[in-house]
Amino acid sequence: MASNGDRFAHLAQPIRVGAVTLRNRIVMGSMHTGLEGHQTEAAFDQLARFYAERARGGVGLIVTGGFAPNEAGRLKDEPATMQTGEHVRLHRRIADAVHADGGLIVLQLLHAGRYGYHDKVVAPSPIRSPINKYTPAELSDAAIEETIADYVKAARLARGAGYDGVEVMGSEGYLISQFLAPRTNRRTDRWGGPLENRARLPLAVVAGIRSALGPAFLILYRHSVLDLVEGGLPWDETVWVAGEVALAGADVISTGFGWHEAKVPTIAGVVPQAAFAEHIRRLKAAVSVPVTASNRINSPAVAERLIASGICDLVSMARPLLADAEFASKAFAGNAKRVTTCIACNQACLDHYFEDRPISCLVNPRAAREAEFRPLPVTRKKRIAVVGAGVAGLVCAIEAARRGHEVVVFEAEASIGGQMTLAARIPGKADYAEVVRAYAAQLAGLGVRIHLGRRATAPQLMADGFHEIVIATGVRPRALDLPGADDPRVVSYDAALSGAAGVGTCVAIIGAGGIGHDVALYLAHPDPAEATDPARFAHRWGVGGAPSPAPAPRQVILLKRSPGPFGRSLGKSTGWILRQELRDLGVQQLAGVTYHEIDEAGLHLTAEGQRQCIAFDTLVVCAGQVPNRSLADELFAAGLGVHVIGGAKFAVELDAKRAIEDGTALGCAI
Ligand SMILES: Cc1cc2nc3c(=O)[nH]c(=O)nc-3n(C[C@H](O)[C@H](O)[C@H](O)COP(=O)(O)O)c2cc1C
Ligand code: SF4
Repeated sequence: MASNGDRFAHLAQPIRVGAVTLRNRIVMGSMHTGLEGHQTEAAFDQLARFYAERARGGVGLIVTGGFAPNEAGRLKDEPATMQTGEHVRLHRRIADAVHADGGLIVLQLLHAGRYGYHDKVVAPSPIRSPINKYTPAELSDAAIEETIADYVKAARLARGAGYDGVEVMGSEGYLISQFLAPRTNRRTDRWGGPLENRARLPLAVVAGIRSALGPAFLILYRHSVLDLVEGGLPWDETVWVAGEVALAGADVISTGFGWHEAKVPTIAGVVPQAAFAEHIRRLKAAVSVPVTASNRINSPAVAERLIASGICDLVSMARPLLADAEFASKAFAGNAKRVTTCIACNQACLDHYFEDRPISCLVNPRAAREAEFRPLPVTRKKRIAVVGAGVAGLVCAIEAARRGHEVVVFEAEASIGGQMTLAARIPGKADYAEVVRAYAAQLAGLGVRIHLGRRATAPQLMADGFHEIVIATGVRPRALDLPGADDPRVVSYDAALSGAAGVGTCVAIIGAGGIGHDVALYLAHPDPAEATDPARFAHRWGVGGAPSPAPAPRQVILLKRSPGPFGRSLGKSTGWILRQELRDLGVQQLAGVTYHEIDEAGLHLTAEGQRQCIAFDTLVVCAGQVPNRSLADELFAAGLGVHVIGGAKFAVELDAKRAIEDGTALGCAI
């Protein structure tokens, strides 16, 4: 039985914002899903299912992904705007579905300005962004007035579609940020120069919407608390704008951190939970309307702490609501341990967005694909054995048990989680262990038995008479095929990470895929605690904070066979951070290597046409993985039809995303 303290009393408290009462303090933050540009009923029905599931999951308020108020403001070359009666008709599906499930929802209005990825981009001044190939056209005075009118019209259409309000996107370096900051606003007319002029556009937008739509319509304004770029707003101007926006009619100040071109991570795993709390607290102290905290708040406990300590009035969680649609209802029912944690990997959300693919979630593949993975109750209950308690096996067991099957899990090791538990040791990936913890709690809630330290055998599985057998035995590291590879100083990545093998102070790493980069960070990092301490993070990335930790404890060199730059396979939204960290830690890199042999002197190789020997205390092999499938082969040979999922099925370029998707798909279908 959960105590009241576990039910998050502050987070659960209703709050009045503007003319509306929210049932609790949880706001689902805005996320473009990749479906917004598909102007079809099918796409909007999927958006409706996605948001309705989150409304059913109990959040206080939902903010949609950004829609542009006009053509020029689009994020990409796609028609994700709010301009016409046809848009109203499509959007009504979303608002109706959310209301039917007891939720409230506002439409985000986002004009991308010079961040738009198409050839009609506009901005206050014709200055190209370093992250875009398109140079914006300078908006004329008349075009600025039209843009303001477009915002107001879009808000009016949003109300027509049934939305409870709008959020005006004023942060992350989009058009409104571009007007506010001298970095991008070089105008000399009434829209540039002194702050009052630079702020004229956002204030006119908010005031225009308020005056057109009256006091009952919710207006949120997403404010850039820290721009994190040269030529961004100083703190006193940031505070002044927030105050003026509230006076102009905003009911809530939502917060945002860092322009997209900033060289400071703001949402990746290296950002500690609630890293920007101190800045949010300072902003809240200066404004009269409720303030919503944002970025890397991924557990009910952290959200509760922020509200209870008066740092903010509401907590926005974007990706955590992808990871678990029932975040709020589980927390408020005393089941917080069952909340699946967002691990800030960005692999299935932001990276998909950059690849023009619909977003989903690595730890919850059902997110934004609700119609595809439907855990329907079973008509015939089966006894199912799942062999292997890595993430593929765990999620398969969860989905199958949730649908009504009787599931038993066998795990040869003493603990569950497999590669995910190992990954949790990497600085910035501590939350990976939280996911394993959440899956375990969900299985316990479903009454699934997990036999730890029990290596399932073919005769035993056959004798037990299971209706279905799922083989999720995962992978093992690929051994190094090189003369001298049996040297005791040569260890596999899993032994290096788990501590099963000692690692010296002079390390060579063979293989520079995702695992090689992670192992390099793990071994070169002086202080994994940095990744969970907001003050150290802030100092490390130049946002204030405590002094930096000690220098790297090891000399590390990362080697790869292929020529060319390192880290090309890393995700777009996180790869640059990892590369930067390795550079800062002095990790050396050598590409285009041909390996010859290992002997007492070291690793003999040819690079850049020169034969050389790299001395090492420890050589860590990160040369890929092979399926662990001997049990599956044995069962197949005995004529048994078994299901093989995850790395046991196919190990090449295996990652947790594919393993979890595999397990979820089978669990929903079996
Ligand atoms: C896939 C994706 C799409 C996003 N799209 C938007 C958007 O359209 N508008 C916006 O204001 N923020 C957008 N964001 C930023 C989120 O609102 C949020 O600030 C960020 O994810 C950090 O918060 P979190 O740690 O709670 O996820 C997006 C984030 C993701 C991951
Ligand atoms: S894909 Fe990763 S970052 Fe994105 S919501 Fe899921 S767990 Fe969070």
